Amino acid sequence: MEKVLELISKEVGDAFEAAGYDRELGRATISNRPDLCEYQCNGAMAGAKKYGKAPFIIADEVAAKLQDNPAFEKVESVKPGFLNIVLSGDFVRSYIVKMLHEKRFGISLPGHEPTVILDYGGANVAKPLHVGHLRPAIIGEAVKRILKYTGNKVIGDIHMGDWGLQMGLVITELKRRKPELPYFDPDFTGAYPKEPPFTIQELAEIYPVASAKSKEDEAYKNEAMEATKRVQDGDRAYRAIWHHIMNVSLPDLKKNYDSLDVHFDLWKGESDVHNVIPGMVEYFKQHNYAHVSQGALVVDVADEKDAKEMPPCIILKSDGAALYATTDLATIQERMREYHPDAIYYFTDKRQALHFEQVFRTAKKTKLVMPETDLRFVGNGTMNGADGKPFKTREGGVMHLESLVQEINDKMYERVKQSNPDMPDDEARSTANKVALSALKYGDLSNQPAKDYVFDIDKFISFEGDTGPYILYTMVRIKSILKKYETEGGNVKEAKLGNPENEAMKNLMLLLTRFADAIEGAAKDLAPNRVCGYIYDLSNAFNSFYHGTKILTEADADKKESYIALLAITLKILETSIDLLGFSAPERM
Ligand code: ARG
Repeated sequence: MEKVLELISKEVGDAFEAAGYDRELGRATISNRPDLCEYQCNGAMAGAKKYGKAPFIIADEVAAKLQDNPAFEKVESVKPGFLNIVLSGDFVRSYIVKMLHEKRFGISLPGHEPTVILDYGGANVAKPLHVGHLRPAIIGEAVKRILKYTGNKVIGDIHMGDWGLQMGLVITELKRRKPELPYFDPDFTGAYPKEPPFTIQELAEIYPVASAKSKEDEAYKNEAMEATKRVQDGDRAYRAIWHHIMNVSLPDLKKNYDSLDVHFDLWKGESDVHNVIPGMVEYFKQHNYAHVSQGALVVDVADEKDAKEMPPCIILKSDGAALYATTDLATIQERMREYHPDAIYYFTDKRQALHFEQVFRTAKKTKLVMPETDLRFVGNGTMNGADGKPFKTREGGVMHLESLVQEINDKMYERVKQSNPDMPDDEARSTANKVALSALKYGDLSNQPAKDYVFDIDKFISFEGDTGPYILYTMVRIKSILKKYETEGGNVKEAKLGNPENEAMKNLMLLLTRFADAIEGAAKDLAPNRVCGYIYDLSNAFNSFYHGTKILTEADADKKESYIALLAITLKILETSIDLLGFSAPERM
């Protein structure tokens, strides 16, 4: 469906042409003076030089051609040569009605469905999920939904860290605690127990202890490194423990991500490419992509245009060990082989930018991907505490994701109970969880991904201001009016939308026409913050309309039906938008 701006530009372009000028000059933009007009065109200014005429003369001529155009209520030429445009109410109404008949409210869908792999989450098995994993999960999930909605085939992969030192640390500590286990008996040849040697609670406790010990005790650390290597080399006993760690960890990780309404299509990890690394390394060597430098195998990725130094990508350390980049490259190779993606996008902390730049350049240089494969890194900024430093627990420790979610859920429960004393307890709980999730996600997503932000729980849970709960509150308000209308015997019909009756209504309707622009912009830039900005404006516009208009008490039946239609459409657009951001609204709050 053509966008409003395209339609305006076409009409104004026609007028430029009819007046004897280049039609390209008719390009319109959203007004930067909303107090004066809704849209504007500065083409007369741009054309003045070419045609050797004062801009206001051109603008006057063009405006004259547009006077009877039904799309416009007003086209005004103002000095020194701007065209100020106000759309006709009928144009806006019929545009919205058309949107409702289009697939996905008029989003432009591509002719073929590009395949996009999204690598987000990045949880490390055996280590508890902490707030550092929150942003990649929230942003990645939102982008996944936005890309899917705009016509991509998306595959979300958690890409777990399941092959690193933490595994060796857990094994080392387990050996200290339970040396009698058969995994530690070199003469044991029987089948290892099916029961894991620890519960999730024990596992969660073991890792931090082991990690702390390894920092103080060199021998302990060496043992953990040795154990890690044994896992990777396929040692039967240690692989058996590795499987136990995975089996105990994964359901817990899944539970945590579920509580955030974050879902992955693939639960793959670093371990999945372990076996393909030797072949890839061989391929790099055979084609002379890689060479030995100071004992290590590296691929040069520096470019003469680089402003900053670009170190080579290390594929194998001098002891032959594979690194983080090696795993990422092997994963790219596997993804290309299995899914033939057109694009792979990565979501993780922005401090990993250099790593991904090296990996992307290596992947292109070694032809693991096509020249046109779109590899992009969306680095997120840090979530800070009120002190401007990375968010910590009150005691100063690393905040576990589970505790953070619990805290915000509990706070919201208090609020919901306070404003709805008669709400049954289970409804209050589920309502609180929904609103809390909106607070958490919107608080994050309303910032540009790369920006750091302050996690201010009291601000995020507020029902006023630029917050998730404010958006939900607006939606709940609409739902309750529609419900009342229906209990009074009314029938909600969106097609009954009429022309705007007043400025607030016009404003709200104009914003509705911009839904597809907002979502397509967010998809193009991988920027869910654009969706937040849009629904915040939309909610504000709705609330101004609501505060200035009698709706259910309106005596004129046509007007009332039109208002109700407008409410229903606004709710639909808000519902679609928050679903793209990864949260939902309760019935009341
Ligand atoms: N596990 C990593 C971490 O916690 C994040 C993984 C990001 N994805 C990737 N393909 N490297 O830092």
